[in-house]
Amino acid sequence: MAEKAWWKRTFVYQIYPKSFQDTTGSGTGDIPGIISRLDYIKELGAGAVWITPMYPSPMVDNGYDISDYTSIDPAYGTMEDFDRLVSEAGKRGIRIVMDIVYNHSSDQHPWFLESKKDRTNPKADWYIWRDPKTEGVDTRAGETGEKTGADLAGGKAVPTNWRGIFGGSVWTWCEERQQYYYHTFAKEQPDLNWENPEVRRALFDAANFWLDKGIGGFRIDAISYIKKPAEFLDGKPDSPDGTVSVHTMTANTPGILDFLKEFKREVFEGHDIFTVGEACGVETEELTDWVGDAGVFSMQFEFTHVLLPFDGPEIWCRPKPWKLTDLKRVMFKSQEAVRDEGWLPIYFENHDRARSVNVYFDGLPNPDRTDPEGICCAADPAPGNGTGGSSGTDPENSTDRAPEERRAMTPEERKLAARGLAAVLFTLRGTPYVYQGEELGMQNADWHSPEEFNDISTKWQYQNALEEGYSPEEALRFAAFFSRDNARTPMQWDGSENAGFSCAGAGSRGDGAGAEPWLHVHADFRELNAELEEANPDSVLHFYRKLAALRREREELISGSCRELLPEDEEIFCFERRLEDNCILIAVNFSRKEINLGERLKDQAAAPGGDVSAAQLTEKNRLLLSSRRDAEPGILKPLEAQILE
Ligand code: NOJ
Repeated sequence: MAEKAWWKRTFVYQIYPKSFQDTTGSGTGDIPGIISRLDYIKELGAGAVWITPMYPSPMVDNGYDISDYTSIDPAYGTMEDFDRLVSEAGKRGIRIVMDIVYNHSSDQHPWFLESKKDRTNPKADWYIWRDPKTEGVDTRAGETGEKTGADLAGGKAVPTNWRGIFGGSVWTWCEERQQYYYHTFAKEQPDLNWENPEVRRALFDAANFWLDKGIGGFRIDAISYIKKPAEFLDGKPDSPDGTVSVHTMTANTPGILDFLKEFKREVFEGHDIFTVGEACGVETEELTDWVGDAGVFSMQFEFTHVLLPFDGPEIWCRPKPWKLTDLKRVMFKSQEAVRDEGWLPIYFENHDRARSVNVYFDGLPNPDRTDPEGICCAADPAPGNGTGGSSGTDPENSTDRAPEERRAMTPEERKLAARGLAAVLFTLRGTPYVYQGEELGMQNADWHSPEEFNDISTKWQYQNALEEGYSPEEALRFAAFFSRDNARTPMQWDGSENAGFSCAGAGSRGDGAGAEPWLHVHADFRELNAELEEANPDSVLHFYRKLAALRREREELISGSCRELLPEDEEIFCFERRLEDNCILIAVNFSRKEINLGERLKDQAAAPGGDVSAAQLTEKNRLLLSSRRDAEPGILKPLEAQILE
């Protein structure tokens, strides 16, 4: 049966407003800039635009620290600009999706400023406050020089040894109240107390405020952390400093769904919108409790594929090797989990991830996929001074490959890689999410020193790598490869100054000059930009447009079932979408060799327990789309993606 919901039939384009288009010369993107690019988004074919937070914010975490839930940060424009955005987007068939951050606010939010004053004010219980720990305190703190949870909060006995997502204790001392407050992320992002019904009411009211403006839905930030365990207890350390990740201790705590059902009832229900939850820590097996008719959201981001390069918590200096079969296994496991009930967002990039061509292809065809030009290739020695850390390599899994095969990709290969990922993005079952610049094949930037980073988590990850025994050069390599800033460099519109992102010369400084972009423009902007790609029918951008058009035309790609083929193959990502008698086959060659797809499918069919129906590929298969101009149906050239009927 054909899927009816509008958000299943379209795709979502994600904008990081700070880096998208600056119209004032301030160096920071703005809402008028987004409006000026709506035609570009329409041409691409997206029916919804998710914009990361634009509310007033001290910008400690670039807007994910909100100080007013129902206003627009003046750096981005005014509420009138926002209303115009919704209306102009609407004229083009595009709905605007707001990002709501309800696990925590900014420490500058009036609610928190009041809450911290004393223990009796009306908002005293709107955040999570605890007294210092008195029992079981590690009295060695300070004497032995050994790090303990107590050290992390300035010598006081913190209630637990939990480490925040951006490093340091989750507890910060407040002089006024003589208590600690709790924060899953930075100390400037105190967690709201969802147990308090007044807090929930205030949050739901804020969401309804935006719904009344006619938005198309919500992306809901860090929502798996809103429920805390009944008791705050120490956890088993996972780090040399005696701390344990807050994620391990609190993600998806039982009872969370009661809060979210109330959220659904009070806000989402009865509106023609979609919701997409960011709920890291919800197991694939539990997805159907969260999405689908009985669930709480329309869609929910799965993390299993983006966390593949890490062993345990996302610690960048502890990457683990992974193979194409691992990637396919987790992605198809998610597909399988929602086969009968539920729907997923399909994504490779967002503002929290390094660029996908680097993450998924660098170091190819080395199966040690964590080898970004040597970041932790199998031959790497243990870290720097050898005092700690893990090399992140697994000799069992390493291969002796010729240096030529391990070389970094050429620019042409990167473009093919970008198209290959796009082919998967647009053809798996689910709603594709395209992050700004991904449609151009933008890549990780060059970072020469730790001072160049803006991102709060990158700064901590760099420090942490040093603490785990890596040299400054090694720590920089990890940070440069995984940094969230890779995704946040300004959008590359053209080859003019600032890549057309910021109109230098029309600056707001009053001296006629524009400010520098808040984060440096990628060095390759003269060769890689939207204007050049627009003019080149073989560009990554045009390939995205063709994929979007194909997805609109072929019902199989929306409503068809999805089945993996060649699951054991380390070179081809292959699956079919089937609707009644029609079937579309998608095959992406992740290797640099030419592969006869028909032979591979036949071999698989012939193997014991083989998949006979997979061997039906014949010369008659019609090529619907290929990522190469020199395509022959069924013969996959290096890095080629083919979509066959
Ligand atoms: C997830 C967001 O995507 C990320 O950018 C942010 O830093 C954290 N949540 C905290 O809000």
